[in-house]
Amino acid sequence: MCSIESLFQNNIAWSTRCVAQDPAYFERLARQQTPRYLWIGCSDSRVPANEIVGLRPGEVFVHRNVGNLVVHSDLNCQTAVQYAVEVLKVEHVLVVGHYGCGGVRAVIERRRIGLAENWLRHLEDVARKHAQRLDGIAGVDERAARLCELNVIEQVSNLCRTTTLRRAWERGQKVEVHGLVYGLEDGRLRRVAAAVGNEEMHDMEYAEALSALAVRPA
Ligand code: CO
Repeated sequence: MCSIESLFQNNIAWSTRCVAQDPAYFERLARQQTPRYLWIGCSDSRVPANEIVGLRPGEVFVHRNVGNLVVHSDLNCQTAVQYAVEVLKVEHVLVVGHYGCGGVRAVIERRRIGLAENWLRHLEDVARKHAQRLDGIAGVDERAARLCELNVIEQVSNLCRTTTLRRAWERGQKVEVHGLVYGLEDGRLRRVAAAVGNEEMHDMEYAEALSALAVRPA
């Protein structure tokens, strides 16, 4: 079993380095956070929000769960969204899926994994909704990749229809929702849905994102 002692050593080294570069760094951060971005991503250890987009502590508010899902009855995610939009006033909400997602793979392969199957039912629902789009794709890897993309488009749509985003747009608050997929094999982020900045745009962008997928090879 590995020890957690090394984590404490890493932590001391890191905090010492931060203070060496900027003596008031932690004092300033402790007083307030002013992130401009909310990241909703997968719990996968290979997709660390801050690192991928080069942001420091205090610069991105993060919510992660298995499969980067935005479920309207999930109080945890909805609370993060509300706090980020209403209190922190983030300007961009990023829904970030990733290729090679274990949750997506489990759904595609109909694997039995116990309790988590209940959570992954939300992903299964996305797969059922888009069965026609997925059934035509021969390879399992390609089908899983397409489900990653479709899932992000669906979660962007779910996010645009949350009470928090609807109210924010009604008030005239400027906040944009983005749908991205991260590639584990090349470290690159790709857009799968155009930025949505109000509720009227949502239907149009949703349809466009889906039709753009249709013409792209899987
Ligand atoms: Co994942």
